[in-house]
Amino acid sequence: MEEIFDRDEEINQLSFLLKRNEWVIILGPRMSGKTSIALSVSNTFSDRKTIYVDLVKVKGLRDFINRLYFSIPKGLIERVKESLETIGVKIGPTSLSFKIKSTAVIESIIRSICSNTILILDEAQDLKQGINHLIPVFHRLLNSCPSLSIIFTGSAIGLIRTLLEQKGEKPLAGRKPSEIFLKPWKEELAREYLERGLENCNVSFKREEINEVLQELGSLVGWLNIYGVNRCIKSHEEALKESIIEAVSIAKEEINNAIERKAWRKKALKLMVYGANWSLLEKESRVSTETLSSFLDKLERLYIIEKKEKIYIVSDPVYRKAILNL
Ligand SMILES: Nc1ncnc2c1ncn2[C@@H]1O[C@H](COP(=O)(O)OP(=O)(O)O)[C@@H](O)[C@H]1O
Ligand SMILES: [Mg+2]
Repeated sequence: MEEIFDRDEEINQLSFLLKRNEWVIILGPRMSGKTSIALSVSNTFSDRKTIYVDLVKVKGLRDFINRLYFSIPKGLIERVKESLETIGVKIGPTSLSFKIKSTAVIESIIRSICSNTILILDEAQDLKQGINHLIPVFHRLLNSCPSLSIIFTGSAIGLIRTLLEQKGEKPLAGRKPSEIFLKPWKEELAREYLERGLENCNVSFKREEINEVLQELGSLVGWLNIYGVNRCIKSHEEALKESIIEAVSIAKEEINNAIERKAWRKKALKLMVYGANWSLLEKESRVSTETLSSFLDKLERLYIIEKKEKIYIVSDPVYRKAILNL
C-alpha cells in the first residue's frame, strides 16, 4: 500500500506550486496523508534536493536547529559546516552550540543550501510561537533564494492563522502561502482503497469484513493503512483487533495532549463522543464561557471535533474509542 491513492488533484496542485517555487501549506487531520504527499511529490523533482525536517513535538528554536541540521543530506553538509563555522557555531555529535541568535543560525544553514531545494517542515505548528520569529527569516530567504520552496504541513488550522495573519512589521506581502487541504475520503473511496490494497497482496476478503473495518476505523487513510498492512498477513479478526489497538493508542496520545490533565476537558470530550450541545457542555464542565469556547475552538482546529447543527461531536470512530478509553 505504498503508492499514493486518489490524491491526483492535490498532487498536481502541489507539483504546480513547487515548480513556481511557492510557499505551500498542506493541511489535514493527523493520518490524512500529509507527509506522504509532501515527500512523494518532492521526490519527483530529480533536479532538486529535498530536505525533510520532522517537527513533531519540537521544543523551541534550538531544537528546531538541531533537527534541521541533522536532516541535511550528506552531499550538502560540508557547505553548511563551512557557513556555520564563519558565524562561530560549534557542531557537536548530537547538537549545535552557539551564542548568537537562533534565527541567525537558521538563516545561515538554509541559505547555504537553498539553491534548487525543497524544504519540508512537517507538522510545523509544533513550533508554536517560534514560527513568528521565523517568518521574517523565511521571507528574506525566499527573496534571496529564488529556487527554494518551503512546504509546511500541519494538523492544526492554527498554523495557517499564524502564517497568514501577520501583524508585525514584515507582512508577507505578495508571498501568501497557498493552501492544500487533504479532505477526508468518502466511504466509497475508503472502501476502494482497502479493496485495492488487499487485492495487491492477494488476500481474499468478504464485503462484510470491509464494512466492519469502515465502521470501526472510519475513513482516514492512516488507520486503513494499518489494517491493510496487518490483514495482508493475518486473519480479518486478528488484523482488525490489532489495528484498533494501534490506532487508538496513536489517537489517545493526541487527545491527552489536548486535555492537558484537566478533568473538565476529559468530561467534555466524553460527552462529545455522543454529541453534545453548548448548554450541556457548559453545565457539565463548570468552566467559564470563554474557557469552554477556547477549548472547543482548539479541538475544532485539531479536527478532533466538528460542529453539526448545534451539536459538537467527535466524528472519527478511532478518536471516539480513544476518548471512551481514557
Ligand atoms: N493517498 C494515499 N494512498 C495510500 N496510502 C497513503 C496515502 N496517504 C497516506 N497513506 C499512508 O497512510 C499513512 C499515514 O499517512 P501520513 O502521510 O503519515 O499522514 P499524516 O502525515 O497526515 O499524519 C502512511 O502509512 C501512508 O503510507
Ligand atoms: Mg505526518
